[in-house]
Amino acid sequence: MAGVIPFDDRDGFIWFDGKLIPWRDAKVHVLTHGLHYGSSVFEGERVYGGTVFKLAEHSERLVRSGEILGMTVPYSADEINAATNETIKANNIVDGYVRPIAWRGSEMMGVAAQANRIHLAIACWVWPSYWSPEARMRGIRLNISDWRRPHPQTAPTASKAAGLYMICTMSKHKAEAAGYEDSLMLDYRGQVAEATGANIFFVFDGELHTPTPDCFLDGITRRTVIDIAKKRGLKVVERAIMPEELSKASECFLTGTAAEVTPVREIGPYSFTPGEISKALISDYDTLVRS
Ligand SMILES: Cc1ncc(COP(=O)(O)O)c(C=O)c1O
Repeated sequence: MAGVIPFDDRDGFIWFDGKLIPWRDAKVHVLTHGLHYGSSVFEGERVYGGTVFKLAEHSERLVRSGEILGMTVPYSADEINAATNETIKANNIVDGYVRPIAWRGSEMMGVAAQANRIHLAIACWVWPSYWSPEARMRGIRLNISDWRRPHPQTAPTASKAAGLYMICTMSKHKAEAAGYEDSLMLDYRGQVAEATGANIFFVFDGELHTPTPDCFLDGITRRTVIDIAKKRGLKVVERAIMPEELSKASECFLTGTAAEVTPVREIGPYSFTPGEISKALISDYDTLVRS
């Protein structure tokens, strides 16, 4: 794409296995287990005014995601917090995004990789919040994906594991090719699950309803928005939601580190009108991340 600087050819520093190195030197060999077998876990974090929102929760989730895959990240959550702050400082990031990633290295190249070293890198880049609340309130359009979030015994669904994003990329590509911004993924039971990189909420009769996160990520933003909504006196219901019910929902929005709170105006045949509840939660979330 014209005008986009590729991510492997930028100025700055990346924290790589314990130290900051020049951005362009942060490379892995082509014979890396993480690349061949999907043995990697990552995080997506947002920096607001020089501070990572909920950094400790993200670092803890990274360590936990690794544990679920049998990978012991060789740094504690506290050490990852310190390394993250060091990386943000070295790159002078005020409003940006952080991408820590842990992966199995190159010592063994079969399915079994018992001896492989676990690596950790942390990169960050400038990424301001582009959307004004007014622009957000127009809402985005989603199709319904052909791909379904798998059963927890089919994939390590509680881990933010790279391999779980294979069907997200496929879903999002198909949605974008058809003119949608994102895709709603159902789960293996046909229940509403989440978007390709964000959780989902609906307003039914003035109450906030969101799917129970039993086969997809219980997002940090999701939990934050539930807290904010409860503080506003809203009733929050976590339950199984079937797609047919969406005709009765008045508002819908996505939550995620990248999405923040993003209203949705259409999901396939279902329409919503971004309204007062979405607006209030966008505003409360914005205040909280900058406080
Ligand atoms: C598939 C998926 N679901 C949900 C989320 C939301 O999680 P969080 O709010 O912790 O960013 C993300 C983003 O990380 C995601 O990639």
